[in-house]
Amino acid sequence: MKIIVTGGAGFIGSHVVDTYIRAGHRVSIIDNLSTGSRRNINPRAKFYKADIRDPQSIEKILKNVKPDVVNHHAALASVIASIKNPNATFEVNVLGTVNLLRAFGTIKNAEKFIFISTGGAMYTTTKLPASEKIPPSPLSPYGLSKLLGEETVKFYAHTLGFNFSIFRYANVYGPRQNPHGEAGVVAIFKEQMKRGERPTIFGDGTKARDYVYVEDLAKASVAALTKGNGGLFNFGLGKLVTDKQVFDTVAEAVGFRKTPRFAPVRPGEVQKISLDAGLARRVLGWKPTTSFEEGVRQVASSK
Ligand SMILES: NC(=O)c1ccc[n+]([C@@H]2O[C@H](COP(=O)([O-])OP(=O)(O)OC[C@H]3O[C@@H](n4cnc5c(N)ncnc54)[C@H](O)[C@@H]3O)[C@@H](O)[C@H]2O)c1
Repeated sequence: MKIIVTGGAGFIGSHVVDTYIRAGHRVSIIDNLSTGSRRNINPRAKFYKADIRDPQSIEKILKNVKPDVVNHHAALASVIASIKNPNATFEVNVLGTVNLLRAFGTIKNAEKFIFISTGGAMYTTTKLPASEKIPPSPLSPYGLSKLLGEETVKFYAHTLGFNFSIFRYANVYGPRQNPHGEAGVVAIFKEQMKRGERPTIFGDGTKARDYVYVEDLAKASVAALTKGNGGLFNFGLGKLVTDKQVFDTVAEAVGFRKTPRFAPVRPGEVQKISLDAGLARRVLGWKPTTSFEEGVRQVASSK
């Protein structure tokens, strides 16, 4: 298949590109390299440096590539940045998505749009692990932008006539995650510990997340090429890992002996979230195989 992966120079998108290429697909990448890097780009993919906020260049690229599938990972993915500057987040995550959807609708062979959303920033519930049946209640402009993005996908898929799947990811970690942002705690802790610095835990260490290993997740994008049309799926291990457990697991993997620093909780962050991936397992056959401890060891030994 001919597939465009937006955000294919970023952390998760680049693993999705690699997985598609290994499965024999022809992949093009659209990325503006704002948080992504040329180092992550698979040499067998065609790279278009472009901004999804620019409808003309997006239309031109899609007309040129004529993709069967668009897998849309490009986004501003930071909760904290979305609170500081919500407009930028809405412009990329909502209007950028609209530009892609409208351009995709002009392609004759347009088959399917796969939209990457968030589960980690979508629910405020104590019913954990959260299934897709829990009504969304985002706490941040980032979560809201993804919810609006999901609705634009449903609208344009129905009106322009192509299939879609929506993926709500839990916290993703793995090799190539940027350690210099505000999110990506495994990568951040690893870098700081390797420099001998004491990482900061925001809160008392009991805030908890569901961590899914990036290579496990990338397999879902392959399954969605043939399955899951019209579906919305949560992805996670269904397990809560506290911030203190993340600290301890990374410390163990890199041999760090000092204690963490503690700072006040940041606004917009959910206290506890884990996701029920039962639907993804049943419909897409998705099965994560990497435990948190094993995944952290992989990260610790990666560059
Ligand atoms: N990392 C997580 O834990 C997590 C959890 C849930 C959902 N997600 C979603 O997964 C996707 C990928 O996230 P990631 O963690 O790999 O982040 P990332 O920042 O590494 O990747 C995002 C990519 O999008 C590109 N991009 C940003 N704005 C763009 C624009 N205007 N035009 C073109 N390209 C642009 C960036 O350069 C980058 O390569 C995002 O949609 C994010 O919201 C991530």
